[in-house]
Amino acid sequence: MVNLKVPCHPSISFRPIQPPDLAILERIHGDLFPIRYESEFFHNVVNGRDIVSWGAVDQSRSNPQNDELIGFVTARVVLAKETEIEDLLSFDSPNSDQTLVYILTLGVLESYRNLGIASSLIHEVVKFASNISSCRAVYLHVISYNIPAIHLYKKMSFQCLRRLYNFYYINGQHYDSYLFVYYVNGGRSPCSPLQLVSLFVSYIKGGFVSIAAKLWKNEERKKFKWPKFKESSCLLPTVQNKRTVTSDNTRSVPACVIS
Ligand SMILES: CC(C)(COP(=O)(O)OP(=O)(O)OC[C@H]1O[C@@H](n2cnc3c(N)ncnc32)[C@H](O)[C@@H]1OP(=O)(O)O)[C@@H](O)C(=O)NCCC(=O)NCCS
Repeated sequence: MVNLKVPCHPSISFRPIQPPDLAILERIHGDLFPIRYESEFFHNVVNGRDIVSWGAVDQSRSNPQNDELIGFVTARVVLAKETEIEDLLSFDSPNSDQTLVYILTLGVLESYRNLGIASSLIHEVVKFASNISSCRAVYLHVISYNIPAIHLYKKMSFQCLRRLYNFYYINGQHYDSYLFVYYVNGGRSPCSPLQLVSLFVSYIKGGFVSIAAKLWKNEERKKFKWPKFKESSCLLPTVQNKRTVTSDNTRSVPACVIS
C-alpha cells in the first residue's frame, strides 16, 4: 500500500509515464482499483504501446521520490466504428475513420486528492483528443457507486449518456456502470427519438403560428390595406420562431439521473 504524507506545498507536475514507472504504476493500480489488470497492460502503458498516458509527480518531495507517480491517467485511441458508442455520435459525414479517445484508468493517491490533480490529468486527455482531427469524443465507464469520480466527470462537463446494467463483474457480484462522454472537434450526440418528437411538435407549432399569423395578417390587410413592404416584414416572427426552436432543441440534450 502506497502511504505518504503530502508536503504543505506540493509542487505537482505532469509527464508521460515511462518504463522506470512500471513497479509504482502497478502498485497504485492494485491499491486503487477492485479490478486486477494483466501485467501486459502495465508494460503497454510504460512503453506507450497503443496506450497514451500522463503521470503526476510531486517535485517538492525529496529525491528520488520527487519523480515518483502520485497520479496517472491512461487512454487509448480507438476507431469509433469499432466501439459500442458509435450510435451516440452524430456523424457529420460518412467517415469511417473517425476516432474516439477511451480513458482506461485514472487515479490519484488518497493523500493527494482534492487538489485538482485528476482534473488536470483529464484536461490533458481532452487536449490530446482535441488535437487529433479525426477524434470526436473522449469517453469512459465508471462504476455506479464511485460518487467522487462521477462528481468529477460531471463537474468537467462530461455528459452521462447511458447506464449499463451489470457491466462489471467483481468478486462474484455484478455492478452497473455509467458511460460518460465529452465531445470534441464538433462531435455531438445524434437526436434522440424524444428530441425528434419535440422538434416535430415545435415545428408543427411553428407552422400553426405561421398560419395564424398569415390569417391574422389577411384580416389586418382587409382592415388597413397595408402597403406591400409591410407584408414581407410580417414574415419575420415566423422565421425567428423557427430559430428559437432549433436553439432550444440543441440545449435539451438528455440529462442523466444518477441515484
Ligand atoms: C476520482 C479521483 C481520480 C479524483 O481525483 P482528485 O485528484 O481528487 O480529483 P480533483 O481534485 O481533480 O477533483 C476532485 C475535487 O477537487 C476539486 N478541485 C479541482 N481543482 C481543484 C484545485 N485546483 N484545488 C482544489 N480543489 C480542486 C474539484 O472541484 C473536486 O471537488 P469538489 O467539486 O467537491 O469541490 C480520485 O478520487 C481517485 O483516484 N479515486 C480512486 C480511483 C478512481 O475511482 N478512479 C476513477 C475511475 S473511473
